[in-house]
Amino acid sequence: MSSDSQFCHEKGLAFLEARSLTKTYQVGSSAVHALQSVNFTAMQGDFVVINGPSGSGKTTFLNLISAIDRPTQGEVLIQGVSTNTLSERQLAQLRKDKIGLIFQSFNLIPVLSAAENAEYPLLLQRLPKTERAQRVQAILSEVGLADLGKRRPNELSGGQRQRIAIARALITRPKLVLADEPTANLDSETGAQVMDLMRRLNEEHCVVLLVVTHDPEVARYARRQVRIRDGRLMEGEGS
Ligand SMILES: Nc1ncnc2c1ncn2[C@@H]1O[C@H](COP(=O)(O)OP(=O)(O)OP(=O)(O)O)[C@@H](O)[C@H]1O
Ligand SMILES: [Mg+2]
Repeated sequence: MSSDSQFCHEKGLAFLEARSLTKTYQVGSSAVHALQSVNFTAMQGDFVVINGPSGSGKTTFLNLISAIDRPTQGEVLIQGVSTNTLSERQLAQLRKDKIGLIFQSFNLIPVLSAAENAEYPLLLQRLPKTERAQRVQAILSEVGLADLGKRRPNELSGGQRQRIAIARALITRPKLVLADEPTANLDSETGAQVMDLMRRLNEEHCVVLLVVTHDPEVARYARRQVRIRDGRLMEGEGS
């Protein structure tokens, strides 16, 4: 891996900021305050674990950061640019180039092979075929699945599918990776492999990682922990 670490730990460079981030869902006549005026900063090179009870707002928070969802109030800044100011097209570009998303339920495309699933974001980026093939091979090796590229998702175990989903999230070399319970469907050994991979990305490629998890084993990997309770974010560990 090449080293981006020289600039990784330049102090004082905020990669991501949430300012008074608020999301209220209207369900019938009642309002659900999913996120309430959250302020949060992730610096270049941060590795943050987010925990909190079910329904506390963790997925909502990630969806606002990746601009899959729009805030009711407040804003998200990525490298100083407020996502509120971007068009849908610009947001799609931002996600394609800078953000890798890892979902609990994998979201692989069933008719594509493992290798084609991993390659997919590069097609969107219109990379030449030879470079795509090289990157696919490299990332599949990285996640320990170099020999299984031809298999379809339904021919893989849960842990292998999750590693393909991770390969797909990382193949574009994003600067920010958002992961929602990435190890929830994995046995502890595979979960540890996945987290080792994430730690390497963080340390060697300076990728900013935000990982939602209930798993204390995963939390050990982070440099920093925050928790969300009733839509409010607090620094530090907690139950
Ligand atoms: N699309 C929606 N419409 C209405 N309410 C929603 C919607 N999405 C989430 N909510 C509500 O917002 C709150 C926060 O949900 P969120 O999915 O962010 O929780 P979470 O912390 O990710 O929970 P879990 O650990 O169970 O995944 C919950 O009360 C949930 O019911
Ligand atoms: Mg969730």
